[in-house]
Amino acid sequence: MLRPIVKYGDPVLAKPAAPVERIDDEIQRLIDDMLATMYAAPGIGLAAPQVGVPLRVCVIDLSVGQRGGEVITLVNPEFVVREGMQVEEEGCLSVPGFTASVARPSRVVVRGLDRHGQEREIEGTGLLARALQHELDHLEGTLFLDRLRGIKRDLIVRKIRKMQRAGKW
Ligand code: NI
Repeated sequence: MLRPIVKYGDPVLAKPAAPVERIDDEIQRLIDDMLATMYAAPGIGLAAPQVGVPLRVCVIDLSVGQRGGEVITLVNPEFVVREGMQVEEEGCLSVPGFTASVARPSRVVVRGLDRHGQEREIEGTGLLARALQHELDHLEGTLFLDRLRGIKRDLIVRKIRKMQRAGKW
């Protein structure tokens, strides 16, 4: 089932999400819905707060469903390693229509549970490192906008406020 993606300005996107206590049927449904919603968008990553659920769950698929076996589902993920630096253009399904260059570590290792409750460690470089950091940021209530320098961030936020006032956000 597709779920509506909440946009910048919704308080659920600005709050740290809570750990998942038990991977039950409700969490399985959430993960299925998040994957369907991500593919439909289309996007390469989605975090539970983006569908209004304040839990530490995220999904990533750099192939957007085109290659089987590339889907990554993480429950209660944490960084083990963050190193190096890359600067690339980045966007977010909750901030539609806007992108910006964001500096982030170029290699990360993340540890978390998969949807079966098995502990997994995922290493990512380049785009995967970026996607993992972007989604884990969502679980802390942080958007890519919050990683921009003041002036760049203010410009985008001003445009969004204008759209909000016009009822177009
Ligand atoms: Ni995002």
